[in-house]
Amino acid sequence: MTDHLLATPPAAADTTTPELELAAVDKVYSSRRGTTEALRGIDLQVAAGEFVALVGRSGCGKTTLLRILAGLLPPTGGEVRAGGRPVWRGARRDEETVSRFGLVFQEPNLFPWFTIEDNVALPLKLRGVDRHARRARAHELCDLVGLGGFEKSLPRELSGGMRQRAAIARALSCDPSVLLMDEPFGALDALTRDRMNLELQSIASTTGATVVFVTHSIPEAVFLADRVVLLSPRPGRIHSVVDVDLARPRELEIDVEPAFRETVRSLRGGLDEEDTKRSGAGPWEEA
Ligand SMILES: Nc1ncnc2c1ncn2[C@@H]1O[C@H](COP(=O)(O)OP(=O)(O)OP(=O)(O)O)[C@@H](O)[C@H]1O
Ligand SMILES: [Mg+2]
Repeated sequence: MTDHLLATPPAAADTTTPELELAAVDKVYSSRRGTTEALRGIDLQVAAGEFVALVGRSGCGKTTLLRILAGLLPPTGGEVRAGGRPVWRGARRDEETVSRFGLVFQEPNLFPWFTIEDNVALPLKLRGVDRHARRARAHELCDLVGLGGFEKSLPRELSGGMRQRAAIARALSCDPSVLLMDEPFGALDALTRDRMNLELQSIASTTGATVVFVTHSIPEAVFLADRVVLLSPRPGRIHSVVDVDLARPRELEIDVEPAFRETVRSLRGGLDEEDTKRSGAGPWEEA
């Protein structure tokens, strides 16, 4: 479904340098009201072309981790590298490195006065792509995410789910080598979410993009990912990393297969273990 959109063939995986690397990453938020230790000692390597899902209870630091990777938030300790280059030099991010990233967050963050087409094509405009090529690409991407026919609409004329799909199209506009996604499908209805999961799988495999995907849904993580990283509650630490040993392409019906169910069960077990450790330690936070 997506082949026609892709100018470049999948990159051969570079097995020597991880595409993304976090080494001993810490994050402490400080304000006048005090400090919050959000992440502690995160070590993680993601290979080029790999799809990694991050799961964990609300407030365990998933968004914080993604924002640090994306160059939006400096860590208070440790190293973050992309393609072997530091994302952060002190509190300053490396613009060239982060320009290879496509980002999709919980909120679509569209410009309300731009049409959907102009929102989707904005990264191309910033890179000096001519108007004709921008328009053609925006139309392809709108078709891909099910927004064909809404190119001239304004964001306020779309549903929340449609706006989020526009944000996904925008993130894909520059053929990013790394896609960082924070619960991008959380606002979608179940049927659309299923379809977006299939499409994302297809996009990831065709482009060879490295994906880090945050979700509250363990089945969604298992459906999409090569590896699932389970974070423990605050301060977020890596509780476990589970390989998803399921052939691709995966169909939605894979959720009835024993290997799928076993992986889901093992991740749920990890979450429950953390909850048991935490019981009595603070308010219940839902996954
Ligand atoms: N800007 C901030 N200033 C202070 N504390 C923050 C800030 N952003 C997040 N936190 C705290 O850091 C911790 C981790 O937050 P984060 O948003 O990363 O969690 P999350 O795992 O993404 O949660 P959710 O699943 O609800 O989106 C929380 O305790 C939160 O209160
Ligand atoms: Mg979050």
